[in-house]
Amino acid sequence: MVAQRARGVQISGIRKMFEGAPAHAINLGLGEPDFDPPKVVIDALCAAVQNGQNHYGPSAGIPALRAKIASLYRARDPATAIDNVLVTGSGSEGLMATALTIYDPGDEVLVPDPGFVLYAPHARLAGAFPVPYELREDRGFEPDFDQLEASVTPRTRAIVVNSPSNPTGGVFSSSVVDRVVAFAEKHDLTIVSDEVYDEMVYEGTFASFWGRSERVIVVNSFSKRLAMTGWRLGFLLAPATLAPEINKVHYHVMACPSTPAQVAALAGLELGSAATRPMMREFRARRAIVVRELNRIPGMTCVPPAGAFYAFPRFDWPKTPTEVAYALLRRGLITTPGDAFGALGAAHLRISFAASRADLTKGIGILRAYAKEVS
Ligand SMILES: Cc1ncc(COP(=O)(O)O)c(C=O)c1O
Repeated sequence: MVAQRARGVQISGIRKMFEGAPAHAINLGLGEPDFDPPKVVIDALCAAVQNGQNHYGPSAGIPALRAKIASLYRARDPATAIDNVLVTGSGSEGLMATALTIYDPGDEVLVPDPGFVLYAPHARLAGAFPVPYELREDRGFEPDFDQLEASVTPRTRAIVVNSPSNPTGGVFSSSVVDRVVAFAEKHDLTIVSDEVYDEMVYEGTFASFWGRSERVIVVNSFSKRLAMTGWRLGFLLAPATLAPEINKVHYHVMACPSTPAQVAALAGLELGSAATRPMMREFRARRAIVVRELNRIPGMTCVPPAGAFYAFPRFDWPKTPTEVAYALLRRGLITTPGDAFGALGAAHLRISFAASRADLTKGIGILRAYAKEVS
């Protein structure tokens, strides 16, 4: 009864942890800001709903929001126009619509390991094969270009990149971005750049792929920047020849994105960096606490994440990440096993610091007590 493509994908390891959690567990597994959207954004949503903006809109998104997004990306490529922009039902939907538009059955797609949980299943759902490329901690979570070169075959179609990264917190420097572009151009690959954490950088500066090549699709989202994960809204930028093709798939999946959420997102973009500033100030402070405390745990080391809101500590206990995560779950702490993000996530946990300082302190206390037992 179930098609092979559905049988070939699983619910992610992150969701499984939530499903097994005891009541009142401390949640350091969250992939979303523990903040509300800015008040202006909430007010704009309420006003839109009350003023009757409750209907279908254009499938590519309302023109005012597309124009605003295009204007922001003109700083990266002055030729960016509204035709390059699609508003999607989320970053996730943008990634899926992109996969269905550009991967043919049998294609190979280079995906980061460790990397966000959707890239490989999306490739499979499109009939393609995910081919992991390594992002090693001892290389600063940057790609090994020799390994990338060795992974290319005549069927390689695209490379997926994610900076700042979930789960590693790694941020690609501008020169790494240029090297990825040169690699993609050499092998005629499309670059799918997931930039949903672009506003969340603590060290170095964010370098977008947009404007560096004609073969780039940037997938982005309002979820993290405006703390509106539950409203489900994202956007993407693509070459003007490709955007209408992705829009066709997107239309067949969801007709159009939420109209009131788009009105609210536009109000959020008008706020500029003020929208994220209070949240980022708090994340930066928590990051310092989390990195310091994790490094004090016997058998654990944590490289400070340069971006996003996850720590990705390594442990040297004789346990798999899943064993550790389930042992912590029984003690009332939700974390995410590192191998949910790929083979190189073995010996890591992902700890989200999108949780209150009180929860972080309690959660790290549970981790410390567990470490004393196993090390
Ligand atoms: C790297 C990355 N990309 C995309 C997404 C999808 O976000 P959304 O579907 O809420 O826009 C997430 C969410 O956790 C993420 O971490």
